Amino acid sequence: MCGIVGYLGKKDAYPVLINGLRRLEYRGYDSSGIALYNGDLEVHKSKGKVDDLENLIGEKKISAKMGIGHTRWATHGEPNNVNAHPHVSNNGDLVIVHNGIIENCNSLKQLLLDKNYSFKSETDTEILINFIEYVQAEEKVSLDQAIRLALNEVIGAFAIAVISKKEPSLMVVARLGSPLVLGIGNGEFFIGSDATPFIDLTKKVIYLEDGEMAVLSNNGVSIRTIESDEPIDAVIHKLQIDLNSIEKGGYNHFMLKEIFEQPTSILNTIRGRLFVSNAQIRMAGLDKISEKLEKANRILIIGCGTSWHAGLVGEYIIEDLARLPVEVEYASEFRYRNPIISSDDIVIAISQSGETADTLAAIKMAKEAGACVFGICNVVGSSIARESHAGAFTHAGPEIGVASTKAFTAQVTVLAMIALYLGRGNGNLSKDKFQEIAKEIELIPAKILSMLDLDDKIQTIAKSLYKSNNALFLGRGFNFPVALEGALKLKEISYIHAEGYPAAEMKHGPIALIDENMPVIVVAPRGDMFKKLVSNIQEVKARKGIVISITGYGESEVKSLSDGVIEIPETLDCLTPLLTTIPLQLLSYHVAVQRDCNVDQPRNLAKSVTVE
Ligand code: AGP
Repeated sequence: MCGIVGYLGKKDAYPVLINGLRRLEYRGYDSSGIALYNGDLEVHKSKGKVDDLENLIGEKKISAKMGIGHTRWATHGEPNNVNAHPHVSNNGDLVIVHNGIIENCNSLKQLLLDKNYSFKSETDTEILINFIEYVQAEEKVSLDQAIRLALNEVIGAFAIAVISKKEPSLMVVARLGSPLVLGIGNGEFFIGSDATPFIDLTKKVIYLEDGEMAVLSNNGVSIRTIESDEPIDAVIHKLQIDLNSIEKGGYNHFMLKEIFEQPTSILNTIRGRLFVSNAQIRMAGLDKISEKLEKANRILIIGCGTSWHAGLVGEYIIEDLARLPVEVEYASEFRYRNPIISSDDIVIAISQSGETADTLAAIKMAKEAGACVFGICNVVGSSIARESHAGAFTHAGPEIGVASTKAFTAQVTVLAMIALYLGRGNGNLSKDKFQEIAKEIELIPAKILSMLDLDDKIQTIAKSLYKSNNALFLGRGFNFPVALEGALKLKEISYIHAEGYPAAEMKHGPIALIDENMPVIVVAPRGDMFKKLVSNIQEVKARKGIVISITGYGESEVKSLSDGVIEIPETLDCLTPLLTTIPLQLLSYHVAVQRDCNVDQPRNLAKSVTVE
């Protein structure tokens, strides 16, 4: 997600801002920029890393005592120098950095266009700074009042910092829905999306609350409400946590932070796309290829690792709801086995990073064969996103831990929405059924939130696993891919050899592995396959296997058979992977921690496999 920094005081602002931007790199970004006030406004911004920004500025000496900076994680508008922040208003007097999304930016833009405003970028932020300029000119008010009045017309989320060529030592900041922290130094002020940019420069912070704004100047800091300009008494806190723990949001590892982010990330994945009442899925990428989707005889899903597992869930859901044939392939196999691809095929390429070499190569091959490629990526501007004919971003936010967690549930959510779109489009899914599923998708974030309370219990269950050398994960139907995903999570961060299997496949060989040393994790949610899974649990217990079950509340028979039980909320069969995956993520996390493994950067692994 984006990050903002700011400085106002006696020091040279430039080094404070550049170091502050580096501290925000952990949030994930694709471009950065700074604006400095040195009698005039000096703006530098660059696609890429903070190093690229520094190289752009070069050895140029910039003496300025005030400035703002930004790291951008693109959600709308390509990562490039024009879309990078900061953004300057038309008259050149005002400059802004912004973290958030202005939902009514189009109507504000139209108002400004009618007033002969022009725009260079595709960002909502540039619209906001010009709207502030417009309000200040129209209302003939001070900068802080113009910002306050303008923000009262804005719908969306924002954390902003604004400086003006005409106000040499004044910075105005405001927040609603995105975080903003003020650092209070000795005659100097810092701002940041969190305290990391200035934690070594002051431990005294003010946490701005939603709906509040602050005016920073040589006279001090004044805080008031955006809505009614009510003064707020500033409460200064002393920072107790260190840099490392702030980056992880107070969690011990990025992976745990990202597991706990899933209620929010799934909300962001469905935001503006899922409409229950009129039984609609709105995804520009799908509309763009709607004619090809109507003619499609088959969908090919390609991906690697966790993305491939999401693809398998997608196969089950799309065939179940839309009755369209789906085949799922490892991208690495697909690209070399000389597959049969027709121009009527739709290829869905799934990739969190959008840079996986095998997936990218498979896409190029599919395109050469005339297929239509739809990319499902988490990184805007990534190679796979750009190479695809159309696509949908998962909007899960940056995923830093090598083990993919929130990206998986976001990918499955997008695939479920695609299944709903296709099923409604080809008439195989009734409006009632659509609405039943869509309503349940809307309930998933709250259900995941309730499951996160299982963390302590799962940490205890992990103690029975962490010394094992092997593990089996079993599932059926929609949860067979979840068994594979759970096994991958465990093996890649704890180095325990783990395999996922369709539960019914046990009797065709794997059951020979079962003894008192073999933990078997059975994904057995309530649903069509539940009874058969109880039988599979009995088969394992009869051979002294250790059984850990993921199941519904109060399943006494499963409880009596299992050595460990993790009870989860109910949902529709086709959506159970969004819930059953969560305990498996937590289980692998705690086992890895108890084995003293490097959870966020497991040995031999990279977050994005950009080479073969
Ligand atoms: C998953 O936890 C792994 N990190 C890995 O399997 C990953 O899913 C795979 O490399 C694909 O990456 P992508 O989604 O970025 O293409």
